[in-house]
Amino acid sequence: MAETTKTAKLTIDGNSYDLAMYAPTDGPEVIDIRKLYAQAGVFTYDPGFTSTAACDSTITYIDGEAGVLLHRGYPIDQLAKQSHYLEVCYLLLYGELPSAAQLEEFETLVTRHTMIHEQMHNFFRGFRRDAHPMATMVGVVGAMSAFYHDSTDINDEHQREVASIRLIAKMPTIAAMAYKYSIGQPFVYPRNDLDYASNFLRMCFSVPAEEYEVNPILARAMDRIFTLHADHEQNASTSTVRLASSSGANPFACIAAGIACLWGPAHGGANQACLEMLREIGTPDRIPEFIERAKDKNDPFRLMGFGHRVYKNFDPRAKVMKESADEVLELLGIENNPTLQVAKELERVALEDPYFAEKKLYPNVDFYSGIILDAMGFPTSMFTPIFALARTVGWVSQWKEQLADPQLKIGRPRQLYLGAAARNYVDIETR
Ligand code: ACO
Repeated sequence: MAETTKTAKLTIDGNSYDLAMYAPTDGPEVIDIRKLYAQAGVFTYDPGFTSTAACDSTITYIDGEAGVLLHRGYPIDQLAKQSHYLEVCYLLLYGELPSAAQLEEFETLVTRHTMIHEQMHNFFRGFRRDAHPMATMVGVVGAMSAFYHDSTDINDEHQREVASIRLIAKMPTIAAMAYKYSIGQPFVYPRNDLDYASNFLRMCFSVPAEEYEVNPILARAMDRIFTLHADHEQNASTSTVRLASSSGANPFACIAAGIACLWGPAHGGANQACLEMLREIGTPDRIPEFIERAKDKNDPFRLMGFGHRVYKNFDPRAKVMKESADEVLELLGIENNPTLQVAKELERVALEDPYFAEKKLYPNVDFYSGIILDAMGFPTSMFTPIFALARTVGWVSQWKEQLADPQLKIGRPRQLYLGAAARNYVDIETR
């Protein structure tokens, strides 16, 4: 816990209450209201947690006004360009960049845990053949608690470590299997001679009838997408994982809860929704019509891939993702793709429009990731599962951090009750 820096004073009906304040490494100071109810008998009201720090953390820092994202202090653009996903996983999990020997050991460990229990294949087969891969992932990851009993004791540090590695290692296999099942193709087993991203591409695109050659530029782009989605502080799905875990739930159940939350179109589902929107717009001449709809208070339509709860500036991940998109599209020779034309023009028009400028709505990471994934050959239904597999390390790191925190309490928000006051039951005949 941080040092107390100063005290805030709250006065209610002439009574004053002193509230401790803490200074973070960076970012706004925090007022400690934990004892407020006990002392003053009042709750605070903050739907959507726009002003509430639910925990302290040393993993990720975001300055939304400046467009800064740091993992353990390292800027995301440096990590995306100079590091790679498994090294970033190590950094998030253990707090420091690994030595060469530590990295090799970690990569070997992850690589050796990529297969899933053979009996789990039956779970996949129980889903409708056209199930959305996210639906399958929520179910299968939750079902891991029925298979890996030796890593569900959250009070055993070794078991926590084993569960973390299993989740990070097996998630690409599960996501690829969910995809293969949804298109009626046989499952492809992981291969230990391939790196994390190449292995995933091969498990998605290889078929027994034909070997799949992994293009190193596409593997690099895939790895970068994983890196850019690895963690993002206390977002909705991470907070879901922490809340689920606060009751002592097992790690597989907690991560399944995170996947379920990520699925929503306001969160991880935005990449799928964004590409579908770009396709619906179809041609640049229809952009003004959609911009007007996004600005219309009476129309629920929003520009998907625009806006962010925390970033009130360019999403720093979006900048790197945009560069990656250019690289991949050039490699695949699809620079004139109509969806891309619409995306570029939409970005230009929206950034020049006073509505978006005033509300500080900039393209977020999902605006560009969908374009890359589409060019790579993934259907839109796979966009969010790819986000989920990449975010697993973030969820796991935050889950581990929470369990090691001596201040851990079950998450139990309060409410502002506006329902009926106490009243007597009325018999049905007299209502
Ligand atoms: N298009 C049009 N208007 C928007 C958009 C948008 N994409 N996003 C926000 N606004 C407007 C709102 O209507 C609101 O206007 P008002 O002040 O006149 O009422 C204002 O901007 C603030 O928006 P809020 O919804 O209050 O902001 P909040 O922080 O709650 O929402 C969110 C953030 C959910 C990301 C929102 O911007 C959105 O729905 N964006 C589209 C979905 C999306 O791309 N999500 C991905 C997020 S990134 C991620 O999960 C990786």
